[in-house]
Amino acid sequence: MIKHFFITTTIFIFCISCSETNIDPQAVQDNLTDIMRTVTFESDIMAINEKHCIACHRGNTPDGGLLLTNFQQVLNSYRNGTSITRIENGTMPPAQKPRLTPQEIQLVLKWQEDGFLETE
Ligand code: HEC
Repeated sequence: MIKHFFITTTIFIFCISCSETNIDPQAVQDNLTDIMRTVTFESDIMAINEKHCIACHRGNTPDGGLLLTNFQQVLNSYRNGTSITRIENGTMPPAQKPRLTPQEIQLVLKWQEDGFLETE
């Protein structure tokens, strides 16, 4: 009986947490269209860089000796593979910092596929 109660409660809590994730069909659609279009530095990468990277990779003594404060610097470190490798293997941003979302990683990979354009 207690076991049954436990299972019912677990299922109930699970359902509540599902409904709280609030999957919005429009948002899912937007994500898909994001990947269908051309990704440029201006359209997406600048914002991802500002959100996840610039805090440490700027100023007179940037972390890792790497500046990521303008398009040319970001382009260099993505073109030579170092930034993409570190993003894909999850070592940048460092572990204690928020991860890039799967969608942000997709955008980075799509930027690479589209040829690292600055603008369209
Ligand atoms: C909390 C600070 C912090 C954030 C945020 C951060 N980095 Fe770093 N980054 C470092 C430190 C410290 C190093 C040097 C140590 C190392 O290589 O792990 C480094 C090194 C690197 C290197 C290697 C540089 C080289 O020439 O060896 C790359 C590439 C890099 N970061 C890219 C990024 C990218 C891209 C982002 C955002 C997605 C990012 N980092 C976010 C702190 C940070």
